[in-house]
Amino acid sequence: MALTFTFDPAVTPELRDGILDLWADVSNAGGAVGFVPPVTPEAIRPELVKHFAAMAEGRTRLLVGHDEQGKVAATAFLTLNTHRLMTHWLWLYTVMVHPRHQGKGYGRDLLAAAEDAARGLDGIEAIRLTCRGGLGLERFYGSCGYKEVGRIPGAIRVAPGDDRDDVIMLLPLG
Ligand SMILES: CC(C)(COP(=O)(O)OP(=O)(O)OC[C@H]1O[C@@H](n2cnc3c(N)ncnc32)[C@H](O)[C@@H]1OP(=O)(O)O)[C@@H](O)C(=O)NCCC(=O)NCCS
Repeated sequence: MALTFTFDPAVTPELRDGILDLWADVSNAGGAVGFVPPVTPEAIRPELVKHFAAMAEGRTRLLVGHDEQGKVAATAFLTLNTHRLMTHWLWLYTVMVHPRHQGKGYGRDLLAAAEDAARGLDGIEAIRLTCRGGLGLERFYGSCGYKEVGRIPGAIRVAPGDDRDDVIMLLPLG
């Protein structure tokens, strides 16, 4: 069993709704993708619309993984920099695998597919991302070859009195 990954899929209503459901399910299971539970797909929609707008402008590319039932099971967004001195690397955002599929190696497959996609883009030499501290995510990204290159203490306030580090991870594509 494996996910089927597609880079730059056509944006259909099914894909949009599948991503919204995935994002809500991941968030409500405690995933660190920009929201805290409880959250509804409707509350997430504006964030997804921002990704779609960036995709329409060619600044962001979507990588999506489908399971055998054809359901959206994983995503990662690859975002190019607009700063003219930073066009040689990109950002990886909203890395997630549906809770029912976590722990089966699909996260690592997703990051391998993202790395392949980035290597296929002209002039891209590194992938940078940030993750929320305190969840072990550094270990996940570390197992995929990323190195921690920075950490902003307490930059993410998930709840009053619960501040988490914002951890910066980098994968040089050398
Ligand atoms: C993080 C995430 C993408 C990993 O996907 P996954 O399919 O569960 O991970 P895999 O099964 O491919 O695991 C790969 C390795 O990372 C480790 N790992 C996975 N999630 C981990 C976590 N949260 N903390 C520590 N280690 C983790 C696994 O143990 C495995 O290591 P091993 O081979 O030494 O056992 C997934 O758990 C997820 O979507 N989480 C919620 C959303 C989220 O927080 N995304 C990160 C945004 S920065």
